[in-house]
Amino acid sequence: MSNKMWGGRFTERPDAIMEEINVSIDVDRHLYAQDIAASKAHAAMLAAQGIITANDAKNIGKGLDTILSEIDKGSFDFKRALEDIHMNVESRLGELIGPASGRLHTARSRNDQVATDFRLYVRDTIDETDAALAAFQYALVERAIEHAATVMPGFTHLQTAQPVTFGHHLLAYVEMASRDRGRFADARKRLNESPLGAAALAGTSFPIDRNATAKALGFDRPMANSLDAVSDRDFVLETLAAAAIASVHLSRFAEEIVIWTSPLVGLVRLSDKFTTGSSIMPQKRNPDAAELVRAKTGRVIGALTALLIVMKGLPLAYQKDMQEDKQGAMEAFGALSLAIRAMTGMVADLAPDEARMKLAAGEGYATATDLADWLVRTLKMPFRDAHHVTGRIVAKASKGGIALHELSLQDMQEIEPRITRDALAVLSVEASVKSRTSYGGTAPRNVLAQAKAWLKRLEKE
Ligand code: ARG
Repeated sequence: MSNKMWGGRFTERPDAIMEEINVSIDVDRHLYAQDIAASKAHAAMLAAQGIITANDAKNIGKGLDTILSEIDKGSFDFKRALEDIHMNVESRLGELIGPASGRLHTARSRNDQVATDFRLYVRDTIDETDAALAAFQYALVERAIEHAATVMPGFTHLQTAQPVTFGHHLLAYVEMASRDRGRFADARKRLNESPLGAAALAGTSFPIDRNATAKALGFDRPMANSLDAVSDRDFVLETLAAAAIASVHLSRFAEEIVIWTSPLVGLVRLSDKFTTGSSIMPQKRNPDAAELVRAKTGRVIGALTALLIVMKGLPLAYQKDMQEDKQGAMEAFGALSLAIRAMTGMVADLAPDEARMKLAAGEGYATATDLADWLVRTLKMPFRDAHHVTGRIVAKASKGGIALHELSLQDMQEIEPRITRDALAVLSVEASVKSRTSYGGTAPRNVLAQAKAWLKRLEKE
């Protein structure tokens, strides 16, 4: 038997391999809730416009509710021969309510149907991602308040640069997550238009009300061009781009946790809850969760790249290539969700070794800039000269194998005679961070104020 949904002009069954390459139910079954919601909105609109009877619309609505609960319960029998979620639902509707089910597809096509379903799905994903990112920010802010004054080494080139506070470092990720949320919100705004009623590509001759279905599904308005409505997947691409950037942020943080927890570095410890052991080396405590967050990024970037490549050569309007838009995107959103939740867990779990952090913050002549700044401020030296003088002082300390603050005043005066005892006070890591009071700087007072402001903002959301 040929396909009962579109097989009128066919006499033969599809080849097994045709069916196998064509089938999408394993992926688009995840759109069932959105598919049913869109069908209900469509049926109600058809009745309101007098295109189908109120009685048919009522039966269609009831049948769709039954299908929704069957799928929710796990008792629905998904059939591969019915290709996708749209035809699985419609076919089951026929079993439940009889011929009236065949009226549901009036003035629509699977092309506008799938575009609608997937917009609704991506919109839901954006809302879930936003909530997860907010929870991540909240966890970061709580730890930032706790560690507003905990001094740690700041790095550039992974070389000790200047002391910063741990709270300041954590708040950097709060800012990144905030921009990530902004990108998702932007994508949501643009995707929130309804393709439903574009039909196959040209619109329809039935007197449909696209505003009504758009409103019923929470869209801001119907999409203005029927060809565009069924052809573009930019809403998926844009959301994947936001996801890729967000996952790159998480990956960098995960990499830092891997570095910090290495025994070579030892700035941070993760509890047993976020580490795993080795089957051969009894001493091991591996930061697997952080490593996997780092690795999941590959899936997200991969999904974005793959869909860009799928789309780049497609003429208007719908092409079956576009069926490949869902699997990678769904996997990517799942990977991102897991990564955000794992990072949130690790943020709450990690324990900085404050003594080690402080020690490391002072290693590598990290307060050299503070000495140079003192020379500028006190002796009115041009910064370039101060940099040179400080460089010579660092070289002297380095030659003697000692830290900057271990040099005697006399040692320093041999290089710059005008240096006074006051200069020694700026060489401690605490004094260094305390002095960084410029807006956005690492001074504990700034950090605490910023963290508290974030807390207020997050609590108000
Ligand atoms: N399963 C298809 C997809 O995901 C639905 C649209 C099919 N439309 C069609 N004319 N074959 O893209």
